[in-house]
Amino acid sequence: MNITPVDQTETWQDLLDHASTLSDVTIADHFAGDADRANQLTHEAAGLYVDFSKNRLTTETLDMLIALAGEVGLVGHRDAMFEGRRINQTENRAVLHTALRRPRNDVVAVEAVIDDEGATTTSDADENVIDDVHQVLNQMGDFADQVRRGTWVGATGKSIEAVVNIGIGGSDLGPMMAHRALRPFSRPPHSDREIDVRFVSNIDPADVFETLQGLDPETTLFTVVSKTFGTIETLTNARSARQWLLDGLTEATGEVPDGAVARHFVAVSTNAERVAEFGIDTANMFRFWDWVGGRYSVGSAVGLSLMIAIGPDGFRDFLGGMHEMDEHFRHAPLAENLPALMGLVSVWYSNFLEAETQAILPYSDHLSRFPAYLQQLEMESNGKGVDRLGRTVKFDTCPVVWGEPGTNGQHAFYQLIHQGTRTVPADFIGFVHPSDAVGNHHDLLMANFFAQTEALAFGRDHADPQRRFSGNRPTTTIMADRLDPRTLGRLIALYEHKTFTMGVIWGINSFDQFGVELGKEMATAIEPELTSDSPLAHDPSTNRAIAHYRSRR
Ligand code: F6P
Repeated sequence: MNITPVDQTETWQDLLDHASTLSDVTIADHFAGDADRANQLTHEAAGLYVDFSKNRLTTETLDMLIALAGEVGLVGHRDAMFEGRRINQTENRAVLHTALRRPRNDVVAVEAVIDDEGATTTSDADENVIDDVHQVLNQMGDFADQVRRGTWVGATGKSIEAVVNIGIGGSDLGPMMAHRALRPFSRPPHSDREIDVRFVSNIDPADVFETLQGLDPETTLFTVVSKTFGTIETLTNARSARQWLLDGLTEATGEVPDGAVARHFVAVSTNAERVAEFGIDTANMFRFWDWVGGRYSVGSAVGLSLMIAIGPDGFRDFLGGMHEMDEHFRHAPLAENLPALMGLVSVWYSNFLEAETQAILPYSDHLSRFPAYLQQLEMESNGKGVDRLGRTVKFDTCPVVWGEPGTNGQHAFYQLIHQGTRTVPADFIGFVHPSDAVGNHHDLLMANFFAQTEALAFGRDHADPQRRFSGNRPTTTIMADRLDPRTLGRLIALYEHKTFTMGVIWGINSFDQFGVELGKEMATAIEPELTSDSPLAHDPSTNRAIAHYRSRR
């Protein structure tokens, strides 16, 4: 473990100096000074085309950032992750989401913990996790096939028509985003039969209420997804769904049929005890492991609803795409390594050019929830102010990640990106072929994609300052042939490893999330106060707000 905080390294200081020497050089100047810039700064790997040339940097900047990665031991940290070392040291866990997508004959074991007497203290240590991974993938595949073929029937003997995934955070965002992204692959001709897959996450009653509208309890299956099976939102929604099911079946048949919950509820969790306590048959439970973080879990059984939608073969392609990017991250030199370069460029903006946000702008409506997915991935991983040694960091860490699909964003917030006072580095993500072809829509969409990055980088002069575009607005262009399961897998793993790179540079643990705990605990304490007259002992503002709520409920 490196002891020197990254901002105390020589390279960090060099980068600060370098940033100030570049402060008056624009992206247009960089292009004017280097005819080969677009070639030099564009890389293709694992089916992705990534052009960094419209950023405020030079090849020298990248060399220095790569030197910084060397100073903090990025390669060693990367290898430790792939090898199953317990790099999530605050929770004493390995970080092995990459094992979820490795081929069946690979071998990866979780690092053992040896106690003072020399005994191994963990049950999972030294076992090849790939066997377990493929056993669960097969179990998922069998189940998904039964649902898709109509042979998995509900308690009244009818085939399943709709699947409702209940989960939140990583137990929702991944499958929900991917299901939306791959919608065309969940219906003919890619898929024999389209299952209506829906998602409930929010504890707001509106979510479960609206999502269940129009569904028939006799033909609806719930996948309750929770790593811990202790998350209040998920358990509350699952209980309400169970009640809806039992009421609906009773209305349809005059009684609660045998096996109602067993035929209509399956669970995805690491916690069999709590699953059984909830009343779900553990025979219908799909396992995953503590070495899969929630926000890194879409390739595990957490993706069951996605697999039901796109089929086991589609899901295996999705994993295959992730694995391709894993291999690229693991083996490509840093100078050509897409996730490492993306992470380093993002560090450059956060720490040396004072950018506070990172925009994600997919030119694909199917990727409308990709920015939300990346918000959890990047901000829950790297939104931290203390390093691995518990020291307060003295530099900025994760930028605020946000975004919306183009072209909608163009008619909303792009004004600020073009003419505002802030630097907003933006990833533009587009595809050569549309998922659904309608007239000339796709070429029009992509014309906007190309036009925006050109306009942002080069601007346009005008005598009237209100109509002047200064340019020098940084973007990274990411393109792939088409948005299919394999490409989506590659894109997800690209951002996972980008996030990892940034965490290593900053010296923080990207795999815990203690920052979500305080609010959860306080909500649990406040809930009974809302329905009682007990005296309130919060701060004056919170007391007043709760009193207002009490007086009007
Ligand atoms: O509140 C944060 C979090 O712990 C996320 O990290 C996680 O993805 C989500 O809650 C859901 O947790 P679980 O899968 O245990 O229900």
